[in-house]
Amino acid sequence: MGEAGLYFDWNATTPPHPDVIDAMVEVARSAWGNPSSVHAAGRRARAIVEDAREALAQALAVDARDVIFTSGGTEANNLALAHAGGLVTSRVEHPSVLRLAESLERAGRPVAWLPVRPDGQVDLEPLPALAQRLPSGSWLALQAANHETGVLQPIEAASALARAHGLLLHVDAVQAFGKVELPALSGAHSISVSAHKIRGPKGIGALAIRGIAPPRPILLGGGQERGLRPGTLDPVLAAGFRVAVERAARGGPERYRDLAPLRDRLERSVDGVAVVNGAGAPRLPHVSNLSFPGMRGDELVAALDLLGARVSSGSACSAGTTEPSPGIEAMAGRERARSALRISLGEGVSSIEIDSFLSLLARAVGRPLTATSCSA
Ligand SMILES: Cc1ncc(COP(=O)(O)O)c(C=O)c1O
Repeated sequence: MGEAGLYFDWNATTPPHPDVIDAMVEVARSAWGNPSSVHAAGRRARAIVEDAREALAQALAVDARDVIFTSGGTEANNLALAHAGGLVTSRVEHPSVLRLAESLERAGRPVAWLPVRPDGQVDLEPLPALAQRLPSGSWLALQAANHETGVLQPIEAASALARAHGLLLHVDAVQAFGKVELPALSGAHSISVSAHKIRGPKGIGALAIRGIAPPRPILLGGGQERGLRPGTLDPVLAAGFRVAVERAARGGPERYRDLAPLRDRLERSVDGVAVVNGAGAPRLPHVSNLSFPGMRGDELVAALDLLGARVSSGSACSAGTTEPSPGIEAMAGRERARSALRISLGEGVSSIEIDSFLSLLARAVGRPLTATSCSA
């Protein structure tokens, strides 16, 4: 175990890839200028930023002009939806969409919530009726993959329905990008991505738009990013993002697919002790969200941490108390949410590490787990 212990929390963030670090160090030394400066130092930095923009444009099949750099996925989601005239979304979205939807509601804009099925997928059936009640040009915001369960949302069906009923589609692809093939993104009008979920640096992400007018900025300031996102861009972060995007495009989904047998073995091992949230739905291959009846996810996280394994629970501290994950609650109820533990694997995790994790998990839950072999 390295300093990070058994790090099984890749959905929270991923370790920066060595190639990402090398590229960033190089740019920090040689192209640290302000990308908006017209002199040579600025032009050098600008070239780095534009190369990153081009890499993203290729990966997301949009025009490079339509890639807007942000500080991450949170800001990209806010930029996409902050000025929505109306919105349809669901309770399993990331807080950066949930809180925004709630603030739109408070501001008197029409917001409709799609029901969530027990398997974690949204139920699109009411969408046509909900769309009818919204002003034209309203948005449907859906995540490609859920951050807690890895459940994949039916983006292709959503995209067809959105078009048929006059909604614009925003896809939060922060957890899915680079991990699964996403052909359905071609139907999205805007897409959010974040570098630190694909082994890039924290503090940079992007909103890509397709076939729509640019969003109204949420920050006021200079003319950077065509005035859509003022503020000086860091060429160092952009360089790291570029390498991460190119790596993700070169075999990212294949590398993640290889993790599915390990994830499946882990789930078989907890059979009878835990239930798998989202088991019935298509999921990201490296994520397992387990509820341990009668136990508390946040306490298991702390116990595992003491033992050297890093996972997460989806609970959030609010006003001094621990609130269970609203996403798990929406799909499976409060008790399942309270006892939920998220295990998210990543590139290079080995079968031996899964075995070590399982023995720590058995200690944390105080119960023996089912022994399984790789081929079981
Ligand atoms: C689905 C999803 N959307 C958005 C975000 C926010 O991304 P960032 O951390 O870059 O702000 C996250 C981060 O966990 C996420 O999982």
